[in-house]
Amino acid sequence: MPTPAGSVPPRAAITGVATYVPERRVTNAEFAERLDTSDEWIVSRTGIRERRIAAPGETTSTMATEAVRRLMAARDLGPDDVDALIVATVTPDMLFPATACLVQDQVGLRNTWGFDLSAACSGFLYGLTTAAQLVASGTHRRVILACSDLMSAIIDPLDRTTAVLFGDAAGAVLLEPAEPGYGLLDFYHRVDGSGRDDLLMPAGGCLRPASHETVNAREHYLRQNGKTVFKFAVSQMAESITTLLQRQGLAPRDIAMVIPHQANQRILDATAERLGVPKERMASVIARYGNTTAATLPLALEDALLAGKIERGDLVVFVAVGAGLTIGASLVRWQ
Ligand code: UT7
Repeated sequence: MPTPAGSVPPRAAITGVATYVPERRVTNAEFAERLDTSDEWIVSRTGIRERRIAAPGETTSTMATEAVRRLMAARDLGPDDVDALIVATVTPDMLFPATACLVQDQVGLRNTWGFDLSAACSGFLYGLTTAAQLVASGTHRRVILACSDLMSAIIDPLDRTTAVLFGDAAGAVLLEPAEPGYGLLDFYHRVDGSGRDDLLMPAGGCLRPASHETVNAREHYLRQNGKTVFKFAVSQMAESITTLLQRQGLAPRDIAMVIPHQANQRILDATAERLGVPKERMASVIARYGNTTAATLPLALEDALLAGKIERGDLVVFVAVGAGLTIGASLVRWQ
């Protein structure tokens, strides 16, 4: 069953956003040099023109660390000012210790606790709800949610159906108690594990521990049933938003900005059409970054903020579908 309406007063608000993307831009032309693909196919089927790929030595934790440092500098926070740190990722530096522990140490946070959250492309949404509840309960004043994925570590460079889709990035948001009427108003989350085989990394867990056999079978790379996930994403993103709006007595015209997960421009266009939302109110950064899994929503949020598309008091909807399958949408009155 879907989650019930979620917010508990006092609500939590996003009070800061920062991102980090690696220096190196990889264009579609680079893929066309070594794979049976073309710029024309990639742009017309996905909307992606380039993506950032991490340098040797960069990891999910180092990217998250940079995003968190930038966030703390922007909000003038010191090492004692963060009560908890959640890291959303499906590409942890190691299975354990948690990437949150590595980021805490690298940033130099003191007196904090934290953990990793695995929800793939829905990581920001599930992390936002979790962090907001820590703040709303009154036990935490400042919680950082860092979303970081180094997809290039788990992408099969020889598989044209997935290699061209993903990029590396990190984003971080700060959650604090909201002013009355502002912040996270509601959320709708659902998981559907019957879609587990549609998007996965088959080996590396206890089901199929690393062995010569799993490496030879390329099972440590992401696999995706693209068409199935595409159809699921189109129907579920529109449905999740509609559910949230209906139970809040709102209509699509009340939403200033939809910040959707960025997997395919055609998914964004189809979702906009289903909802009757004009395309300029659907955030889109996919051309520059591709699909950066958990980092996608903070990247799109920061871009919309920098472009002046979100103002205080605006209603903003975040929405995503990801491996799991995970589904989520969140409604925020921007503070
Ligand atoms: O972030 C998590 C959620 N993920 C998603 O939401 C991803 C959803 N899926 C998609 O975005 C799309 O399904 C893809 C972009 C992955 C694929 O696009 P599609 O229009 O569904 O293509 P397709 O899988 O139906 O493939 C059509 C053809 C195939 O060739 P044949 O069998 O018709 O000869 C593919 O092999 O396109 C071929 N193809 C390519 N051709 C050139 C697949 N990838 C490429 C490529 N370059 N990179």
